[in-house]
Amino acid sequence: MEKILVTGGLGFIGANFIKYMFRKYKDVEIFNYDKVTYAANPDNLKEFEGKKEYHFIKGDINNFEFLDYVVNKNKIGTIIHFAAESHVDNSIKNPNVFVETNVLGTMSILNIVKRHNLRFHHISTDEVFGSLGFSDKPFDETSCYDPKSPYSASKAASDHLVRSYINTFGIKATISNCGNNYGPLQHEEKLIPKSITNILKGENILIYGKGENIRDWIHVQDHCRAIDLILHKGKIGETYCISGRNEKSNIEIARMIVRLMKVSQNRIEFIKDRPGHDLRYAINDSKLRSLGFEPKYDFETGLKETIEYYKKKHQGESI
Ligand SMILES: NC(=O)c1ccc[n+]([C@@H]2O[C@H](COP(=O)([O-])OP(=O)(O)OC[C@H]3O[C@@H](n4cnc5c(N)ncnc54)[C@H](O)[C@@H]3O)[C@@H](O)[C@H]2O)c1
Repeated sequence: MEKILVTGGLGFIGANFIKYMFRKYKDVEIFNYDKVTYAANPDNLKEFEGKKEYHFIKGDINNFEFLDYVVNKNKIGTIIHFAAESHVDNSIKNPNVFVETNVLGTMSILNIVKRHNLRFHHISTDEVFGSLGFSDKPFDETSCYDPKSPYSASKAASDHLVRSYINTFGIKATISNCGNNYGPLQHEEKLIPKSITNILKGENILIYGKGENIRDWIHVQDHCRAIDLILHKGKIGETYCISGRNEKSNIEIARMIVRLMKVSQNRIEFIKDRPGHDLRYAINDSKLRSLGFEPKYDFETGLKETIEYYKKKHQGESI
């Protein structure tokens, strides 16, 4: 039985990943280690309560002694590291906790990985590479790091630490840098769920600036499939960029949401841009494609399903 410790498994991508793993594998035991911050939703994984292959452990990744105890006691073989402070807007208001969790927390995990000789996969973001102009070539694994927000700077620092532990101590690690995820279970602070729930509440969709900022959107289940592939077929020590091959501006997303939710375009409201707002992220994922990766989700279908999910959640239906 493969014993995997997932950090941040009560968050958006971690919870989707745990669901994906239990759907795909019969011989996996998962230890979900999560501090339960404001971003966690224990309901996300309620279906697994009582399942003998699933264990929830409330803990902070900065608590080295406790994490070490959990890894040792349960004979963990692999750590997949999702736990992070993940919202750029919050990092502008309060950067400190981003360094504590994303940088020092990752460092604490790396010391555990080194001590127990574990397989480690580090989840990161394309935001570490900075911002592209409209006609620049997409980022790939060789792109220079040029983070622009406290969030992306903290993720960049964590990537550098992982790379340094691979190089210096030979830990068995891989890194992935992925574009913006969408899909069920995401916290309502983020663009797509916030826009959908604002419409459901009778409020407007709020778009920074003119909404020209472009992101490379991937369905969270495609991200999970990519992580699984890297975990099982990726080369130790390597970084893989993950893309949905789906560049969309914020205003395009907002227009799709109002169209699919059958409300007027006047429900889109433009507000003052946030400081240091990156213009464009885009990813060339040919390295991952060489492992056989193809995103399965078509954006419009994925967005329709996501709208249905938030409608049910809004109505208080079990999901
Ligand atoms: N959401 C995206 O679009 C996206 C894109 C690329 C990469 N990522 C990366 O993927 C990972 C997961 O993102 P997400 O959107 O699921 O985040 P999220 O904010 O939804 O969830 C984060 C989870 O981490 C937990 N956590 C926070 N601090 C912790 C700590 N100190 N110790 C233990 N647990 C802690 C929280 O309780 C929460 O359950 C992050 O590393 C993020 O940088 C996210």
